[in-house]
Amino acid sequence: MPATSPKTSNDFKFKPFSRRQKIVLTWWCANSAFRDYDGIICDGSIRSGKSMTMSLSFAMWAMESFSECNFGLCGKTIGSLRRNVINDLKRMLAARGYTVEDKRGDNYLIVTRSGKKNFFYMFGGTNEGSQDLVQGITLAGALLDEVALMPESFVNQVTARCSVEGAKCWFNCNPGGSRLHWFKQNWINKYVEKRYLYLHFTMEDNLSLSERTKERYRRMYTGVFYRRYIDGLWVAAEGVIYDMWSHTENLFDDSDLLPGAISDCRRYITVDYGTANPMVFLDVLDDGHTFWIQNEYYYDARKSMNQTSKTDHEYGKDFDDFTGQDHSLQVIIDPSALSFKAELRNRGYRVKEADNEVLDGIRVTATLIGQRRVRIKRGKCPNFEREVESYVWDEKLLQRGEEGPVKENDHAMDAMRYLCKTLVNRRRLAQ
Ligand SMILES: Nc1ncnc2c1ncn2[C@@H]1O[C@H](COP(=O)(O)OP(=O)(O)OP(=O)(O)O)[C@@H](O)[C@H]1O
Ligand SMILES: [Mg+2]
Repeated sequence: MPATSPKTSNDFKFKPFSRRQKIVLTWWCANSAFRDYDGIICDGSIRSGKSMTMSLSFAMWAMESFSECNFGLCGKTIGSLRRNVINDLKRMLAARGYTVEDKRGDNYLIVTRSGKKNFFYMFGGTNEGSQDLVQGITLAGALLDEVALMPESFVNQVTARCSVEGAKCWFNCNPGGSRLHWFKQNWINKYVEKRYLYLHFTMEDNLSLSERTKERYRRMYTGVFYRRYIDGLWVAAEGVIYDMWSHTENLFDDSDLLPGAISDCRRYITVDYGTANPMVFLDVLDDGHTFWIQNEYYYDARKSMNQTSKTDHEYGKDFDDFTGQDHSLQVIIDPSALSFKAELRNRGYRVKEADNEVLDGIRVTATLIGQRRVRIKRGKCPNFEREVESYVWDEKLLQRGEEGPVKENDHAMDAMRYLCKTLVNRRRLAQ
């Protein structure tokens, strides 16, 4: 069944293309100085128009140059590829007079125009089995969207399959977590010797974004994440993670909280579970804008008087004491803490599993801290204050081109991250 019904076929509204987008659209054309290059790499900031321009240009190049050939369209997963690339691509191609048939079950597109026909197979770089599928195919070109999120082995396989004479590879991505990332080292740094065209994008290259929208995106990032996703730079996450924490502006006194407003707040207890490691509860009031952390519970078995860990039942009793048995509050908990979740439910609490995506959680938390929308009560959370200063990026991971925090002094930090990542959506972050 044709994927583009007449009703939706022409509804992609093109806006003027920027200078850099125009280069992406024309670099392979007969009158271009770059036409003999073997491929193109675009990196840079989010929403800068990379995927949209590159996918359109890729399909037009394929249709101009070949017929009855296979092409690869690769994303991190097929789902993200369809969301970020295919949906718009189908509409853009239809608006330009191509016929697109989407073989949804088998994940490929058949594109036809003026007697030419080509096949565009979708692959997810991190999907099980993608590597096997790629192995058997001969390609005249491939587009790899968000290539820095794929395993290097998959990318090598795809490029090795591009064996038809005149084949070209097309890559785009946001910067990865380190200058040692394989894509930065083996592709971007070598673009000249590989005979690739390299273009760096920023949001200024997408003329369809209003100033207001760009400002909203800028507000969603801070620190290393700002430099990576807004400036579009390959910067490593090094040193103290929450270096935007302020010992004055992220604290509060009772006088900062309007008594009237407290009754409008929701109360949460966010929990990082530990038996050998410390157990942490943070008592939080949320007014829909700022998290006011009023108090902490921090039990470190190794540092306790007799160095004994507590049972879930004992922790449950401590939890009751800490909350005053307020069953109207909601608990946010480490998703792996199965037994303690059951304990709290038995005690009558509403319990929600935390979103435990680490890097994005750190990004959201860092933004809220920078906006002074995570505040702790002066003098009430000494362990939190100690951890926030000593929570650091892991240098050993960095050396391997990966990133993550050192798994020490991370207990109150994990509890705070669960809170922020679980409750704060994009809209709230951009407020
Ligand atoms: N010339 C244009 N006309 C209409 N819409 C455009 C144009 N350029 C970009 N856009 C739109 O801007 C948005 C961002 O573009 P795109 O998804 O290509 O950015 P990106 O650089 O790939 O972002 P990310 O790094 O977040 O994946 C999309 O909705 C896209 O359709
Ligand atoms: Mg994109």
